[in-house]
Amino acid sequence: MSRKYRVGILGATGMVGQRFIQLLVDHPQFEVTAVAASDRSQGKTYGEACSWRLSGEIPANVRAMPVQPPTPPLDCDLVFSSLPGEMARETEGAFAAAGYPVISNSSAFRMDEDVPLLIPEVNHEHLGLLETQKAKYSRGGFIVTNPNCSTIMIALALAPLHAAFGVAATIATTLQALSGAGYPGVASLDILDNVLPFIGGEEEKIESETTKILGRLNASRIELAPMAIGAQCHRVNVSDGHMAAVRMNLTRKAALDDVREALTSFSSLPQELGLHSAPATPIVVRDEPDRPQPKLDRDAGNGMTITAGRLKPDSVFDYRFVVLSHNTIRGAAGAAILNAELLIALGHL
Ligand SMILES: NC(=O)c1ccc[n+]([C@@H]2O[C@H](COP(=O)([O-])OP(=O)(O)OC[C@H]3O[C@@H](n4cnc5c(N)ncnc54)[C@H](OP(=O)(O)O)[C@@H]3O)[C@@H](O)[C@H]2O)c1
Repeated sequence: MSRKYRVGILGATGMVGQRFIQLLVDHPQFEVTAVAASDRSQGKTYGEACSWRLSGEIPANVRAMPVQPPTPPLDCDLVFSSLPGEMARETEGAFAAAGYPVISNSSAFRMDEDVPLLIPEVNHEHLGLLETQKAKYSRGGFIVTNPNCSTIMIALALAPLHAAFGVAATIATTLQALSGAGYPGVASLDILDNVLPFIGGEEEKIESETTKILGRLNASRIELAPMAIGAQCHRVNVSDGHMAAVRMNLTRKAALDDVREALTSFSSLPQELGLHSAPATPIVVRDEPDRPQPKLDRDAGNGMTITAGRLKPDSVFDYRFVVLSHNTIRGAAGAAILNAELLIALGHL
């Protein structure tokens, strides 16, 4: 390609925003040209405004950038958004209306009927919904979202099983890392020596988003996957890496080896297209009895591979397994960047 796409990052100073900036250093297709955050940060340079919480230094070109308000116009071709859900609806809508493609992490538009809730390996055909957005955003803007950070690993793990055998019912019990709560996030005295059995809105997001992601595009709408799903979410004292214990009933009987094979052999369009952020193997299955673990497995595939383990028959459901993914990479910034790479490859950008 002749030039890189210039990207703006909304919510650039937060946990996900920082991950965007780190992952976009030396990206072959994107360069960061604008950063935006709250009025607490506006007017400062990024280096002054940001409590950088990732390893390594803030990239020099971004360190000196002025933090701007998250309102159009910004000097960029598209925006990645990691704004808080409450304000994302108005702001992201304003960017789309002004003609910008919005590649969002926020929950604001995920369940809108005309908005793709995209995992490129699972439901790239849902991008057909972009046709219906053309009537709403006459200046060429559109909105594509990625799932909640726990939903993504659950839906990605269930996708090949649903395709091969049908998933009739599933329950997921999550153990979610601290970085999932943003910065500064959960107070240390609340989480030290503790587990919090409540993450606002999270259980509902997993339950609703999963059936949309695994649903089918029929004309201009998504038919939700006919699947019973229940989730329980917990915040645990881990820095990065969300885990979920999953149990499921299959529609068609399947042997354990076939379930394992469906997971390990899973590969899809991003791998075929060789997208820059696509992991060679989307799902790794480990057979050691004590894996996956956040500390050991969250960086698999540069944080874009999810790791499953403890796969076995269940005494109540058909099968169970544990799945882990890096919540700010596959669960957030890396997911959005992969979405944008797919949009380029398919001619939407
Ligand atoms: N953390 C994860 O693992 C994860 C995963 C998936 C999705 N998400 C979603 O991604 C979004 C960001 O999460 P995060 O963890 O990065 O949160 P965070 O660390 O709290 O960062 C929030 C960002 O939004 C900015 N912001 C807050 N209020 C604003 C306002 N009124 N106007 C403009 N900017 C404002 C903040 O700017 P200041 O620094 O100036 O306050 C900061 O840049 C959320 O919607 C979250 O649900 C997070």
